[in-house]
This record gives sequence, structure tokens and C-alpha cells, in this order.
Amino acid sequence: MIEWNRSQYPVPYPLVVVVSGSKPNPSTYIFFGQFNEHPPVIGIGIKEKRHTYKIIRETGDFSVNFVDTSLLKAADAAGMVSGRRHDKSSFFRWEPSSSIISPRIASSPLSLEAVYIEEVRFTDHILVLGEVKKAWVREGIRPQDFILSSYSTMEYLSPGASIEKWGFSRGEP
Ligand SMILES: Cc1cc2nc3c(=O)[nH]c(=O)nc-3n(C[C@H](O)[C@H](O)[C@H](O)COP(=O)(O)O)c2cc1C
Repeated sequence: MIEWNRSQYPVPYPLVVVVSGSKPNPSTYIFFGQFNEHPPVIGIGIKEKRHTYKIIRETGDFSVNFVDTSLLKAADAAGMVSGRRHDKSSFFRWEPSSSIISPRIASSPLSLEAVYIEEVRFTDHILVLGEVKKAWVREGIRPQDFILSSYSTMEYLSPGASIEKWGFSRGEP
């Protein structure tokens, strides 16, 4: 083994687009995770200077939209410019959310409506936790339809084939 000296790890994470505000402001996040099931609690690691963070604190909600290859170019563009100076509302087609103010991306494979719960401040990112109030999936969606990303290599990845089921070590199911 060699020592890894970077603070971004060479592992894939799901790529999500977070949308905040009644006039949609999409931006891209690799620091994303789920931390509770009932209710579902999700979190994003976001820099305080992001326009998205400011709007989340104002409105108290945000949507989390997973992307597939058809949405990747727009998602990349949403992560390159800030809503402070650019209107990014034309980057996607939108659907109104049913439980929050922030809209959702129309053809997202998985779209979550989240209400801000609390945050944990670290040195360069803030972990913003949200409770998922509604979740929408595109019919027929499969795990391999999502996009992953690796921060250390800054590239977008397609998930590989399913190789085993959970519990296969015990001979289940
Ligand atoms: C692939 C990708 C992943 C990103 N992940 C994060 C992240 O996890 N946290 C973060 O604060 N910014 C992240 N960014 C940067 C923001 O998406 C970017 O600064 C965006 O322009 C912020 O927009 P806003 O100012 O309108 O909120 C990422 C950018 C890209 C392209």
C-alpha cells in the first residue's frame, strides 16, 4: 500500500443536482449521502459561499435530483457557474414539487423533495441534513441508469453491472 495524500478519495459517489428556490437554481454535488430510513434523512456537503446554500436557508427546502446520461451535460454546466451571477433556470425542464417550494428536474430518474432539518459546520463544507418528504422515480429505472463521480479524478462514471446480491456470502436468497 502507498499513503494517499489527497483529501478527495478515489471512490465513486452518486452525482446529484440540488435545486433550491421557487425560480430554480440547480447545482451539482458529489458530497451526498443517506443517514436514516424512517424518515429518510439525506445530507449534502456544501460550501457556505454557494448560492444554493443561501437559498436553502431562506426557503428551508431543496430537491435532490439524480442524473442519468441524458441529463449529464446540463448537470455539469450547473456545477460550473453560480446562480449568484447566472440564471441557470433554463438548464433543465421543471416539475413543481408537491411538498416543498423548490421544483424538481422533470426527467430525473430519482427526485427527492427534502425539508431542511439542521446542519453541521466543518472547516470548508457544511453538512446540510434534510428530511425527504416525497420521492419520485422514473418508471423502469435501474441502478445502472445513474451517474457516479469520483472527486479525486474529477470524472463521471457509469455504474458497472450488478455482480452479486446482499447476503450472497450466506448463500441467500
Ligand atoms: C461534479 C461536481 C461536483 C460538485 N460537488 C460539490 C459538493 O459536493 N459540494 C459543493 O459545495 N460544491 C460542489 N460542486 C461545486 C458547485 O456545484 C458549483 O460551485 C456550483 O456552481 C454552485 O452553484 P450555486 O452558487 O448556484 O449554488 C461540484 C461541482 C461539480 C462539477
